[in-house]
Amino acid sequence: MRAVIPAAGIGKRLRPHTLNVPKVMINLAGKRLIGHVLDAVEQAGVTSVSIIIGYKGEQVEEYVNRYYSHLRLDYPFQSERKGLGHAVLQGLEDKDEDVLILLGDTVFDVDFKRFVNQDENAIAVVKVEDPRRFGVAEIDPQGKIERLVEKPEKPKSDLALAGMYYIKDQRVLKAAIEKLISDDIKTRGEYQLTDALQMMIENGDGIKAVEINGWYDCGTKESLLDSHRFLLKHNLSTEHKKGSIIHPPVFIHADAKVESSVIGPNVTIDRGAEVSGTILTETIVGKGSVIKNMILSHSLVGDHALAENHALTVNVGDYSELKLN
Ligand code: G1P
Repeated sequence: MRAVIPAAGIGKRLRPHTLNVPKVMINLAGKRLIGHVLDAVEQAGVTSVSIIIGYKGEQVEEYVNRYYSHLRLDYPFQSERKGLGHAVLQGLEDKDEDVLILLGDTVFDVDFKRFVNQDENAIAVVKVEDPRRFGVAEIDPQGKIERLVEKPEKPKSDLALAGMYYIKDQRVLKAAIEKLISDDIKTRGEYQLTDALQMMIENGDGIKAVEINGWYDCGTKESLLDSHRFLLKHNLSTEHKKGSIIHPPVFIHADAKVESSVIGPNVTIDRGAEVSGTILTETIVGKGSVIKNMILSHSLVGDHALAENHALTVNVGDYSELKLN
């Protein structure tokens, strides 16, 4: 089966960490976000993947070609950012085949095999407290979707679209997105995947809602750290470093140096980073960064950054320096 993974987003809300890398290339628990997503689609039996790239897409292409060359890969380019529907369209083909669409910046803890083993179209939904920043599904008692609305001001349901879609015949979705574009139907200024799926429902192509729990979106610093915590829990590392106390789960790259520090829980220290005399919890330290005599919690430190001699919470980008005396 084939998967389409939109990965063209800029990741504005994660700046400065997305100034040098696209959002899907952020490192979580020792692996790029797109790597975690590809591992998941492989579980579903996917052998062919179209990754829609845009912003800094060459980095995605290089990484995926290097580590996932056993998959059949192509990289449609979304030259203009016209919305998720427009992005997905770049990966759809004129073939009567099923397709799994997964957002490239979301980690799912679900049984993918079951999700794609259905005889009808399906969309994963998740109960959320405030559905206004998501696509929202209104369903009947059998779980059939009656209506889909993208980011409604007054949601009529608390079921948000999680970013995982299984479509039996991709030509039907392709035609719906093309119709949105030819009729110039936009919501919030963009061609929305949600609107194309609503058009399918109106045309009598049923879609069922599948409620899931394990859903980790990575749009903000807080949600990124939540996803990081989840991923570490599932890839328990028992790394020990001389003179330091490690509270798992943590990921410490084999080429990172850690001395006289207390690390964890929920910490990633990437390749070439050096951490000494420091207490780190709930923190991601990027490649080649140096952290000395610090207490950091709930922090993101990019690549090649320097932080020394203080205790605080930071959001430090790549190549920046933070020195407090
Ligand atoms: C997109 C979809 C939305 C979905 C969300 C899930 O929105 O348009 O329907 O609920 O992903 O993360 P975005 O987050 O790109 O604004």
